[in-house]
Amino acid sequence: MCGIFGYVGKDNNVGNLILEGLKTLEYRGYDSWGIAVKNGKTIEIEKKVGKIGDPKLRFPKSSIGIGHTRWATHGGVTVENAHPHLDCSRKIAVLHNGIIENFEELKKELLEQGHKFVSETDTEVMPHLIEEGLKKEGFASSVRDAFNRLKGLNAIVALNADSSEIIAAKTGSPLVIGVSDDGYYISSDSLGLVPHTRNLLFLEDNEMVILGKTLKLISLPRGEEKTPDIQTVDWKFEKVDKGKYKHFLLKEINEQPQVVENIALNYETEVKNLADLIDEAFGTFLLGCGTASYSGLAGTYLFSKIAKKHVNFSIGSEFNYLEDYLTPKSLVIPISQSGETIDVVEPVARAKQKGSRIAAITNVLGSTLYRQSDFKILLGAGPEKAVVGTKSFTAMVAVLLFTAYTLAKRQAEGKKMLSLAAENVSEILKNHVGENIQKLAATLKNREHIYVIGRGISYATALEATLKIKETACLHAEGFAGGELKHGVIALIEKGTPCIVIAPNDETYDDIISNAQEVKARGGIIIGIGPRPNKVFDHFLQTADVAEATIIPQVVVAQLLAYYLALARGIEDPDKPRNLAKSVTVK
Ligand code: AGP
Repeated sequence: MCGIFGYVGKDNNVGNLILEGLKTLEYRGYDSWGIAVKNGKTIEIEKKVGKIGDPKLRFPKSSIGIGHTRWATHGGVTVENAHPHLDCSRKIAVLHNGIIENFEELKKELLEQGHKFVSETDTEVMPHLIEEGLKKEGFASSVRDAFNRLKGLNAIVALNADSSEIIAAKTGSPLVIGVSDDGYYISSDSLGLVPHTRNLLFLEDNEMVILGKTLKLISLPRGEEKTPDIQTVDWKFEKVDKGKYKHFLLKEINEQPQVVENIALNYETEVKNLADLIDEAFGTFLLGCGTASYSGLAGTYLFSKIAKKHVNFSIGSEFNYLEDYLTPKSLVIPISQSGETIDVVEPVARAKQKGSRIAAITNVLGSTLYRQSDFKILLGAGPEKAVVGTKSFTAMVAVLLFTAYTLAKRQAEGKKMLSLAAENVSEILKNHVGENIQKLAATLKNREHIYVIGRGISYATALEATLKIKETACLHAEGFAGGELKHGVIALIEKGTPCIVIAPNDETYDDIISNAQEVKARGGIIIGIGPRPNKVFDHFLQTADVAEATIIPQVVVAQLLAYYLALARGIEDPDKPRNLAKSVTVK
């Protein structure tokens, strides 16, 4: 998702400072980038398609500038569509993260006023709106009036060649201000700021900030000045590299034993607090997107089976249409690796307005969800640099499983299960299951479709396994509940169709084996993942039997299969799959 970085202050090498800042945002996923710096009464701008790499940019000495990494929403990946965008006078430059839902009508009005557009983006209306405003009012009022006309969730940063200020405003996508002796920084997240300063101002929705010689915080609706709540954070952001691994993805798959073990050893208090909140609530709702959503789905089975507790689940974007029944006694548990996913942040903000309690499970300290929530559990998985989630998923499941066992007054058992699961993951990673998986991947690499079935908690495992295969290997896969096979999907099974069967040694085993037989009877190739071999399996990738925690080693096998499938299919960079972003901050 788009990344924003800007600076105004004493350092007059702003071009390189912003370039380094943009590099801290690359993990968000992007396909083009650009930088604008103030040079006297003009703006110098550089925009490129592709990755930042090590460009030889020649910026003038300047101490005011803004930069952007773009993840295309409106308009293709071109230099013209890259940010920053300029007005007709080329004195106003604007960056944007979000979607301006009413940009067509604004663009029509501006075209009628004679403005010229060069891009296909929604963003480009913003500099021209500010240009119009400057005909009758100052820079700050022009930005505020222009921003107030936008519909949707947006964050913008504006630079004016005739002003020594940077102005930013937001109603959704995150913006953080760094306050230091040598000036002010602005970024999409704290990661890029902490090397410069630990004094941070987290811009809230419907706020505007004017950065120049001073910092001024303005309420967008009423325009009056607000007192900024500048926090000094002592967060430690570890710098990570690939170490001995070829890709971050493989490294993070291999980090899972210690991630899960850490939760088993050190999370008794956190999960006890979460269990108490669930116990007190009248209705608990787990929500997340993508990989995080499957941990939530798994959670509903875990709480039912282990704690006999009904916990609801919803995909984040769908929760918008389900939350009418929330009350002040409801507990909403958003699950999000980045803590910035707008499809989770938005419904959570509305749940807060209804007085519901929010207990976030996230991996990023200081993220929007982390700050929005009454109670938070940090996954402690360490930075997850690969776009596809792996260790964050097993950490989410581990927290939910441990909470379920704690709710059932069986915390010691939960602790033991997680430790055994971590141990089995280590064995899987060490004992060359990888080699079997690599051989299996070679036989599957040219398939058009792969199906994955599971029942109960293994239905969530099946969905997560297929997401890994789709996003990592760019190979179509479909996951579904084993019982659903005969209700239509079986029409797709033909000779040679691969079907992965998630078969833990639990109450679903016999029935999922029957489903495997149904697929095999129609020529399917059966790949079993679980503790118990079976003659129906043409391939068998064994895990330990760790009761309800078996989902953890099973999903690690699926992650490895997705990774080796990607290599077998010649995917250049499994860390950054095409079209995907690590932090999805647009709807
Ligand atoms: C993970 O493999 C995917 N890239 C994606 O589905 C991700 O899980 C989803 O975007 C949610 O992200 P979050 O956990 O940061 O909220």
